[in-house]
Amino acid sequence: MRYLSGIQSSGTLHLGNYFGAMRQHVARQDEHECYYFIADYHALTTVEDPDALRASTRAAVLDYLAVGLDPEKVALFRQSDVPVVTELTWILSTVTSMGLLQRCHSFKDKVAQGITPSHGLFAYPVLMAADILLYNADRVPVGQDQVQHLEVTRDIAESFNRKFGDVFVLPSGEFDSVAAVVPGTDGQKMSKSYGNTIPMFESEKKIRKAVMKEIVTDSKGVDEAKDPDTNTIYLLYKLVASDDDVQAMAQRMRSGGHGYGDEKKRLLEKILEYFRPFRERREELEKSDSIVEDTLALGAEKACKTAQETMERVRKAIGLV
Ligand code: AQP
Repeated sequence: MRYLSGIQSSGTLHLGNYFGAMRQHVARQDEHECYYFIADYHALTTVEDPDALRASTRAAVLDYLAVGLDPEKVALFRQSDVPVVTELTWILSTVTSMGLLQRCHSFKDKVAQGITPSHGLFAYPVLMAADILLYNADRVPVGQDQVQHLEVTRDIAESFNRKFGDVFVLPSGEFDSVAAVVPGTDGQKMSKSYGNTIPMFESEKKIRKAVMKEIVTDSKGVDEAKDPDTNTIYLLYKLVASDDDVQAMAQRMRSGGHGYGDEKKRLLEKILEYFRPFRERREELEKSDSIVEDTLALGAEKACKTAQETMERVRKAIGLV
């Protein structure tokens, strides 16, 4: 089975990226053929500072290596190192209806947050379709927020195949059952652009601040019973604590007599414990001058080979050669 997924280099990666996507990416690397990329073309829709883009791309590679991705087993590459993806984007855009893109929630959400809507932001799902179809991926492990974009990819692939023959594999999504939507500190989906993230590779001080000061709770008093299933502290705790600890927190919340401050401390402790080995590995990796460029060079070589093969079939099918 061939897997493909990507992460935008649009800022500091967070628990939502890790539990919703990266953890699954690492878990697939021993059994399957995997292509994972740092989506710097996508990031251009929101990042306008070249230094910030370069820094986020480098950081995302280090983050992936720190959580256990092995560049010998997978192709870990930078999206812009395979520029034919933009050629495929153009070709696919000619079989994509405007209505399909106009229905996409992600575009509407970003505009509602005040991001100036460029054509790139509007056409983002076509670039995402090109990312997936270029590598003929069967499976795409992502968070729940990407469901609609995957449907768009399938629609575009079907539309192309109907017109020009069976060139593309129709991919399916794969979602983590407990982390398909990781809540942010305000209870909405954790997202870089919502400013509600808990970043696993920032300083302990920043992680502490996010957990202790930024997680929003209801106004229930210490003695009152609380509903764990709608509580952000508990939902995040489920991702990092053992089953016994999770049950104990649920019990404490339901019975009352325990304040949110103590539960936040427990959550913070577990987050730091969970990510400690990854953080230590990342510190080591950061000391190397060449690890990022070496990883990306190896990944680009593998990715370019597959991409060229697909593009030859695409160009032939549509009459460009
Ligand atoms: N909160 C989340 N829960 C589960 N999965 C999530 N993902 C992101 N947030 C959550 C998954 O992480 C992968 C990479 O995401 P991305 O970096 O491409 O961009 P995104 O989904 O748009 O992440 P952000 O933080 O929300 O970035 P901005 O604000 O820049 O758009 C994807 O598989 C995604 O599902």
